[in-house]
Amino acid sequence: MTKAKNRKILLLPGDGIGPEVVKEVKKIIEWFNKNKSLDFSFEEELIGGASIDANKIPITDEVFYKSLDSEAVILGACGGPKWDNLEFSKKPERALLKLRKELKLFANLRPAICFKQLVDSSTLKPEIVSGLDIMIVRELTGGIYFGEPRGIEPIENNERKGVNTHSYTTSEIQRIAKVAFDLAKKRKNKVTSCEKSNVMEAGVLWREEVQALKDKEYKKIELNHMLADNCAMQLLRNPKQFDVILADNLFGDMLSDEAAMLTGSLGLLPSASLGSRDKNGKIRSLYEPVHGSAPDIAGKNIANPIAAILSLSMALKYSLDLDKEANLLDAAVQKVLDDGLRTKDIMSKGKKEVTTTDMGDAIISKLK
Ligand code: IPM
Ligand code: MG
Repeated sequence: MTKAKNRKILLLPGDGIGPEVVKEVKKIIEWFNKNKSLDFSFEEELIGGASIDANKIPITDEVFYKSLDSEAVILGACGGPKWDNLEFSKKPERALLKLRKELKLFANLRPAICFKQLVDSSTLKPEIVSGLDIMIVRELTGGIYFGEPRGIEPIENNERKGVNTHSYTTSEIQRIAKVAFDLAKKRKNKVTSCEKSNVMEAGVLWREEVQALKDKEYKKIELNHMLADNCAMQLLRNPKQFDVILADNLFGDMLSDEAAMLTGSLGLLPSASLGSRDKNGKIRSLYEPVHGSAPDIAGKNIANPIAAILSLSMALKYSLDLDKEANLLDAAVQKVLDDGLRTKDIMSKGKKEVTTTDMGDAIISKLK
């Protein structure tokens, strides 16, 4: 059996339902330590609004350095209405953006898989979504999220102007395209690259560089270019035409929410944000459920912990080289769904509604 030698995992529960779902993740890590003689050491720290309340800033240097020093960071969620009126640079979300940028986590992987047990939870017809398995590869450290100049400035006539800058360089485009192509090789060899090359120069460059990389290094991959608005439409019309979708930071943000909803619930989707592999084969990484803080259901023990638990499974696979354990965990989630257990977000007639805690316990019982 593979043994993880005192490997450091940092848990950042954050805000809203974050602490509730990360609590279930923690239980599973403890289970692995005890029953699979893995030796994870994990710490828990504040981030986002929780950190603002305690320390007046969304992430302290101490927590930032701890995340640099961990093999995998698992985050719950950042943000909520309580902190909505803070000045932009002090908002909870800045912590997340800082981690992404400074850990150089340029590749965001967002799988959208429609579990067979849940085809009826989607708002789309079962035949459109059953068997759906898409991987969205979103660029995460560039584009309009980080481009300069940015800001809000006064202009004439008592007006103000808001400015953001969207830009990408060749190397930024190539390194994320490479991630998409490499993933496609292990899947159905198909990449759809999205941009707005009909209106944006950065989109023209995106299209050209992705194509050039394919022609040079990935001849066997089927590459299609699609305008991002068309992709949004095609995702609803015929989502199963896609295998890997490659998109920039902003389009990837939107397309991944849309793809998530095809699967029935945002409560099911994990994500991995990855940097480059270093000389020792180590990779910086942050794992988080796609769902966000969901303040409306926070504190009620009804949130779905599956997205967070599957984020742990991605961490086992991508950061910790524990594929066997990751598969065990994925299978446990499937078994619980087979048994008909459902949190409120995926509840349907004839199934058994359970709480966040019950769902975590049930998954653990299936690990055994
Ligand atoms: C996401 C979220 C974030 C983003 C927010 C919380 C900053 O929507 O991870 O998709 O826009 O990237
Ligand atoms: Mg988003």
